[in-house]
Parts: sequence; C-alpha cells; structure tokens
Amino acid sequence: MADSTADLFDSVADVYDASVPFFTTFARRLVAWAEPPRGARLLDLGAGRGAVSVAVSEALGPSCSILAVDVSPRMVGALAALPLPRLRARVMDAQALDLPDASRDTVLSGFALHILPDPGAALRGVARVLAPGAALAFSTPGPSADGGWWSRYGTIFDEFAALADAPAGMGGPPPDWGELAEQAGLRYTRTAATELSLPLDGPEAHWRWLLSHGNRWLHDALGPADRRAFERRVLHSLAEHHPTRGHSLIAGAVLHEMVRP
Ligand SMILES: C[S@@+](CC[C@H](N)C(=O)[O-])C[C@H]1O[C@@H](n2cnc3c(N)ncnc32)[C@H](O)[C@@H]1O
Repeated sequence: MADSTADLFDSVADVYDASVPFFTTFARRLVAWAEPPRGARLLDLGAGRGAVSVAVSEALGPSCSILAVDVSPRMVGALAALPLPRLRARVMDAQALDLPDASRDTVLSGFALHILPDPGAALRGVARVLAPGAALAFSTPGPSADGGWWSRYGTIFDEFAALADAPAGMGGPPPDWGELAEQAGLRYTRTAATELSLPLDGPEAHWRWLLSHGNRWLHDALGPADRRAFERRVLHSLAEHHPTRGHSLIAGAVLHEMVRP
C-alpha cells in the first residue's frame, strides 16, 4: 500500500468531518439501509474516525462486536479513543485483510473502496472473510441536485490534477462494481441513491470542507502559485455557479450491497 495514502489521511485525521457531519450523515444512512443483524461480528473497512462504527453502535447498541480497520495510523488512534467498549481498531490494508476466513457477519465501508488502487483485491478479501450468506454494504460518491456544480468542480480539479502526481487509487475512473463483484464471487444484490444538503457559512467554509478529506491531496501536491490559483477558481465557481452560492454542502452517495452466496 502506498505510504502516501496513509500520510494523506493522517494529515486530515484531526479535522475529519469536524466542520460538517457529511460522513456521519451518510454513515447513518448506510447502516439504516444495510440493517446489520443484532449481535453481528462486524468489520468497518477504511473506517476513518469511525462514522460507520458509531452509526452501528447508535443503531444496535453494544450487541455487535466491531473491528474497525484503516491504513492511517492517526485515524486508527482516533478509532481506538472512541468510547465504544466493543470496538477494536487496527491498522490494516483493506486490500490485504489479515483476518480468518468466514469470520465476519457483516462488512460495512463508508467512502473507502472507490479510492483503493485495487478495489477488486478488497472485494476478494471481503468475500473470503464474510460468513456464507453475509453481506458487504458500502457507499461511494453519487449524483446530487447541485445544479452541475460538482461537475464544474471536477473540471477544475482535473485541470490542476494534470500538474501533480495523484496518490495511487485517487483520480481514476470509477470501478465497474458489478464486474468486480462477480470476479470476487459476490452477488451484487442492490443499490440505492441518497443525497444531503448541510448548511455552511459560505464559499470559504465550503473550500475548507473540501480540504478536510481525501481531496486535499491535490492542494498539498501543487506549488504555491498553482495552489492559490486552484483556490481562487474553486471559490469563484462556488460564488457564481453553486445553487446556494456555497452556503450549503450538497452531495450524493450510492449505497451498494453484495452478498457472499
Ligand atoms: C473518505 S475516508 C472515509 C472514512 C470513513 N469510512 C467514513 O465514512 O467517515 C476513506 C478512509 O479510507 C482509508 N483508506 C484508504 N486506503 C486504505 C487502505 N488501503 N486500507 C484501509 N484503509 C484505507 C483512509 O485512511 C480513510 O480513513
């Protein structure tokens, strides 16, 4: 696993989901949709600061035992500090699961599988560690009623990304989840789309949110002049083209479920 991904998420661990509950909100939706069974031995893959693990605990109380794994040591430090007695946290690469066969009743993953350099390896590992009949549910970015702003942001992002080296897994086209599921021996059972709108103080606050998660890699990889130009372009697009002029975070997600036969 590229050290740079761990470094990137180490660098945002302290501000992660602090200004707006983006990951927290989508994690609650993922858990409500996935309906993990009471008493499940659960794996939270690419757990970050624990949005999904916390949502499971809110939904099911202490009945589940949770193993939360992440490649970033600082994220794992934050996970270990959560006041959840049945949660264990480990540094682990989601693409090389160091866990026994059929040892998990549910695997959940919030916004992590799509940024892996080899999501197929992660799905093969999940298929191995899931008990027969058990499910993986995960979220990826999805469409939202944003008036085309995310698409404009993507164009600006790609323009500046051409000037920098992306960490492995960041910036490629989205995987074909159906094909990867089939190759891993998983049944791709259902998907759902969901979106949110959360209040923000304006374009500057929106920009700070954009720097508080994985997208930050581009800002940090640019030289000072390109970095300032990137910021100016994004702030301008928020002020001119965002439906609320940057006064809300409008975003969507797709939820996916795959079952081990
Ligand atoms: C966008 S964050 C989502 C975090 C959390 N699941 C949530 O919903 O808030 C992606 C997480 O995946 C982790 N990650 C990236 N590559 C990984 C890998 N190869 N193995 C395990 N975790 C990884 C990052 O460190 C980061 O914490």
